[in-house]
Amino acid sequence: MRILGIESSCDETAAAIVEGRGLRQPLKVLANTVASQIAIHQRYGGVVPEVAAREHVLNMLPVLNECLRTLMPSRLDVTPANVKKYIDAIAVTAGPGLITSLMIGVETAKTLAYAWKLPLVAVHHIEGHIYANFIGPQAKINFPALILTVSGGHTLLVMMSQHGHYKIIGETRDDAAGEAYDKAAKMLGLGYPGGPIISKKAQEFFNSGRASNLSLPRPMLNSPDSDFSFSGLKTALLYTLQKDKDWKRRIPEYCFEFQNAVIDILVSKTVKAAKRCQARTVMLAGGVAANSELRRRLQEAAAASLPDISLRIPDLAYTTDNAAMIAAAGYFKARARAFTPWDKLRTDCNLKLSVWP
Ligand code: KG4
Ligand code: ZN
Repeated sequence: MRILGIESSCDETAAAIVEGRGLRQPLKVLANTVASQIAIHQRYGGVVPEVAAREHVLNMLPVLNECLRTLMPSRLDVTPANVKKYIDAIAVTAGPGLITSLMIGVETAKTLAYAWKLPLVAVHHIEGHIYANFIGPQAKINFPALILTVSGGHTLLVMMSQHGHYKIIGETRDDAAGEAYDKAAKMLGLGYPGGPIISKKAQEFFNSGRASNLSLPRPMLNSPDSDFSFSGLKTALLYTLQKDKDWKRRIPEYCFEFQNAVIDILVSKTVKAAKRCQARTVMLAGGVAANSELRRRLQEAAAASLPDISLRIPDLAYTTDNAAMIAAAGYFKARARAFTPWDKLRTDCNLKLSVWP
């Protein structure tokens, strides 16, 4: 079965085609096209929703064209009868995200589903991030699985008892982990997005071999629940910078200590939750999953403290927003026949992660 995925929830316009051959077989990505708007939003220090939506309008059809061209070399092939030879269903991010951005992807998917007479699958954006773990050759995942989902908008610990059955067992009470990276980068004058640049500067400091004498807090590190809080860390960083006349010369050190604080919390809470919930697999998901230090530390912690649990870390290409992950979730949802008729599909910027019907 082949699924065309479409994603436009924030500042990436993306289309992908994913092929699956059964529940236990790894999914294969046949095409994966992403048009990033980062360069445009950098000028404003963050994503401007109205600008993002207009860019999606400009990018959506070229991105789809480039993606479909890998299967259908001639545009003349795009008739319902022909398309059905190549694609079995369309999956689209229905929420959560920026409403005007989401609408571009959803309206495109509805139109194509109607014109090509293909079934439509509505995908929750976080569900997409989770299913990025099912792409690729080593994707043997045993349930129950615990997923640490860390993106610009979410920080969640999700238990998955089987495909499409989610239970949120912990979440952030304020900022998401990616949002904390973005805000910290802004304070340090490093621009948008914050994650990649903080990660790079932290590595620079580590490579220098020096020891840091900064000490930022690790909020809720030892709380008995699986919740997170990052706004206190962000405020502590702000106050420390305000008291330090020399902070501009110590930026890599600040990045190193900030990143260590975030990762200490994420890794410790994930390990504790995995033990408590008797997970058989732990997975990492979301844009912050691109962070090499988080990937390394989670691997290290799993090897030391979770010897009977398999750890799954998605391929780098499928960590930040993309449509292959949406098509991947769409594949399993389509197998479960969880379709939404095109005229019933609604965009929902506050969509909740829910169990499949
Ligand atoms: O999943 P994503 O692409 O979009 C949302 O769904 O929000 O995640 C974007 C977030 C941003 O906050 C960005 O700073 C963060 O992921 N991010 C990173 C890295 N690359 C992206 N955070 C830490 N380290 C990275 N290498
Ligand atoms: Zn995302």
